[in-house]
Amino acid sequence: MKFFIDTASLSQIKEAQDLGVLDGVTTNPSLMAKEGISGEDRVRRHYVDICNIVDGPVSAEVIATDFADMVREGEELAALHPNIVVKVPMTRDGVKALKHFSGKGIRTNCTLVFSPGQALLAAKAGATFVSPFIGRLDDVSTDGVALIESIRTIYDNYSYATEILAASVRHPMHIIQCAEVGADVATCPLSAITALFDHPLTTIGLEKFLADHRKAASVKA
Ligand code: G3P
Repeated sequence: MKFFIDTASLSQIKEAQDLGVLDGVTTNPSLMAKEGISGEDRVRRHYVDICNIVDGPVSAEVIATDFADMVREGEELAALHPNIVVKVPMTRDGVKALKHFSGKGIRTNCTLVFSPGQALLAAKAGATFVSPFIGRLDDVSTDGVALIESIRTIYDNYSYATEILAASVRHPMHIIQCAEVGADVATCPLSAITALFDHPLTTIGLEKFLADHRKAASVKA
């Protein structure tokens, strides 16, 4: 399973990149706003800065909501850098735009997906990635990971190439559950990725190995 980081913070992206397990980045307008990035030029420069850190797909979301403007904006975003994936919302115009981009060889990420039917439409329109928001489903007492499982079954039944990108991942167990049910990608906060490293028995075991090594070395001396 690929790991993407879900942030627009350059410092967090660099930190995740340094871990050696990062495959890509997702952003959205809320994450850009959180970093204080606004204005078309500034936002676009920020996407290029991200692309220069991570050699993998970087999702850049269109702000436009109608087909013609989504196409114009998406084509401009895609021209910024070869790593850019155009992120498009799951709407009627969005699905038309996915089909258009797919025909032009522009990679896409269909965002704000909350049902198997929406995921089926995204795959039929040729989306490169589909983003089911599992945390937001959990927030309304609906099983987010079960949605990933359902999409996996549908895509496998028809050999759709669209990759399932689990989004709105909140904690390390979400990552494990997504891996168990066959998500292709999980896009995660840095805290959820780094939490995977830690286990108290690893810490205790390493301390003991090193203590035994020091003991043996002092006996020998
Ligand atoms: O990848 C989508 C993500 O940014 C939404 O996450 O935590 O706002 O539901 P969250």
